[in-house]
Amino acid sequence: MNRKGIILAGGNGTRLHPLTLTVSKQLLPVYDKPMIYYPLTTLMLGGIKEILIITTSQDNKLFKKLLGDGSQFGLSITYLIQKNPGGLAQAFLIGEEFIGDSNVTLILGDNLFHGDELSKKLRCHNNNNFEGATIFGYPVKDPERYGVINFNKEGKIEKIEEKPSEPKSSLAVTGLYFYDNTVIKKAKSIKPSDRGELEISDINNLYLKEQKLKVEILSRGVAWLDTGKFDSLHDAGGYIRTLENRQGLKIASPEEAAWRMGWISNQELSHLADKLAKSDYGQYLHNLINESF
Ligand code: TTP
Repeated sequence: MNRKGIILAGGNGTRLHPLTLTVSKQLLPVYDKPMIYYPLTTLMLGGIKEILIITTSQDNKLFKKLLGDGSQFGLSITYLIQKNPGGLAQAFLIGEEFIGDSNVTLILGDNLFHGDELSKKLRCHNNNNFEGATIFGYPVKDPERYGVINFNKEGKIEKIEEKPSEPKSSLAVTGLYFYDNTVIKKAKSIKPSDRGELEISDINNLYLKEQKLKVEILSRGVAWLDTGKFDSLHDAGGYIRTLENRQGLKIASPEEAAWRMGWISNQELSHLADKLAKSDYGQYLHNLINESF
């Protein structure tokens, strides 16, 4: 059975007020495309075709307008609402029926991943024998903002600590999580934290207790950007712009990903490009068909 994917695109985005007073953070632009294109494309490059997008109630319609049922990208996209931001682990309660008996990957709607070998890394988890959980560690300068990976003296993982005031390592847990189907049961068993959220770190610690938590460290060749604050949002846009303009290649275009994965034909790509013909983005899609790499 194929792995399913969830993009968590709710939340209040309070750190971006007033930008997010009228529209969800995940619909804001990161240079030339809406933010949600980035996590969506990450899932696609990992070979995931069945995707649930969890949104706030007010913006559900806008996400549907942007991405529809996903068939234009060879995907099946469904939508559910999270009434209040009750924590990342709520995704598995809201998505229980969608997940069914499958394994599932969760990605946060405001997380951008880019770098060498990333797709290969993601695709290798997409098999039926997958058991337990795989999360990704990434060194950051401000670990206190994230779930932090604590190691014991033997270098083994001891605990994932959520937003510690005194972090014991600089390795943050990124917003991309691969789980087996027991994640649903685990999400049902945890209680809200002091800040009133169902914490993903509690789920990860349950896997750790069962000795089924795998942490892969993302190398410095991979960029993991989050876009929760004005500067990080602006920096992410700058990063994408710099690379795209240098290479003449787009980062995180779902149209291109679908085409390269062989999920849509030249003709279908061309049709998608026609709809965007007046922008450089549409031109880029058109040109892809005639390029040889
Ligand atoms: P956060 O950045 O922790 O929260 P937020 O987006 O609401 O922003 P702020 O702190 O400025 O108020 O969330 C990370 C991602 O997870 C983001 O894409 C929103 C999403 N999210 C939900 O969809 N539901 C939730 O319950 C939470 C906590 C986050």
